[in-house]
Amino acid sequence: MKDIVVSGARPTGNLHLGNYLGALKQFVAMQDSYNCYFFIADYHSLTTHPNPKDLHQGVKTVLVEYLACGVDPEKVTLYLQSDLVQIPELYLFLNMHAYVGELERVPTFKEKVRTQPDNVNAGLLTYPTLMAADILIHKATKVPVGKDQEQHLELARVYARRFNYLYGAEIFPEPVAFNMGNDLVKVPGLNGAGKMSKSDDESTSIFLKDSAKELHKKIMRAVTDTGPTMENQPKTEGVQNLFTLMSYVSDPEAIAYFETEYNAMRIRYGDMKKQLAEDMNTYLTPIREKIEELSHNDAYLKRVAEEGAAKARISAQNTIDEVRAIVGFKSF
Ligand code: TYM
Repeated sequence: MKDIVVSGARPTGNLHLGNYLGALKQFVAMQDSYNCYFFIADYHSLTTHPNPKDLHQGVKTVLVEYLACGVDPEKVTLYLQSDLVQIPELYLFLNMHAYVGELERVPTFKEKVRTQPDNVNAGLLTYPTLMAADILIHKATKVPVGKDQEQHLELARVYARRFNYLYGAEIFPEPVAFNMGNDLVKVPGLNGAGKMSKSDDESTSIFLKDSAKELHKKIMRAVTDTGPTMENQPKTEGVQNLFTLMSYVSDPEAIAYFETEYNAMRIRYGDMKKQLAEDMNTYLTPIREKIEELSHNDAYLKRVAEEGAAKARISAQNTIDEVRAIVGFKSF
């Protein structure tokens, strides 16, 4: 039996290079070897109260971008989270054994409490239980995600273990964050700090759909410094980020050239950025073209979403039937 893989992304805008390298590229790498379930986490996006008029368009955007990245619905089960009523049902069961204290300690929750004190809703608090439900509903063991999701995976393991223990049943395996043989990825943004993120200012994220012109404009404005003042000087974060981004898309010779220039204090950041913008454009052009092509094919998208939901429901219903029996629900 092939290992079961589950993962998803929230439909809160266009996907960026971090989503691609942290997750989607992994989805594609895994789809030939594993039994994969990939979904669009549209329930998750409700924590920020999207305008109902925009929600469907957001979902469509992410579906198109998954497909454009090479996720193949013939090889994987591709569906919308909101098409599976079994997920909120499992979420309910898991919530009964999820302690408020442990949820309040989750770093992403604490961060939201700090940054959006006017919208600390229960959905935000229980985000990790919904995520655990997404994963456990198919009894997945591997979850391809970026580094920022590691703590959520830890809680998914806690909930799986706790449920098994409390009901004396080996129903859920413990899922791990997984990246084909490598460390989990954290793609930096262009603002000289942190990771590339949907909520950041758009000018500091590289979106898969960005045109050559947009890429050039953003990358030329990326944060650097005034240049090294001694040989082999440690790099500031902004400069290191540019080198990291280059490592994903540029030839090793180009990277080695700019490393040498940096270490010899001759580097011209403008030249490096031009090279990065060019290489990024070459890297993203096939995806961008595919996005453009697929976004006009509503009939195909409808078929993909319907067939994916039908397939995903079978596995989800099997799990829910087992869970209901374990918890003690019986029909008359
Ligand atoms: P989301 O929508 O924020 O991001 C989708 C995926 O992209 C990865 N990612 C990154 N990886 C590397 N560098 C970055 N800068 C970067 N930014 C984002 C994320 O790690 C993620 O893998 N909670 C999840 C969605 C989700 C999910 C799940 C994932 C809901 N249920 C069950 C796996 C399994 C989220 O908000 O991802």
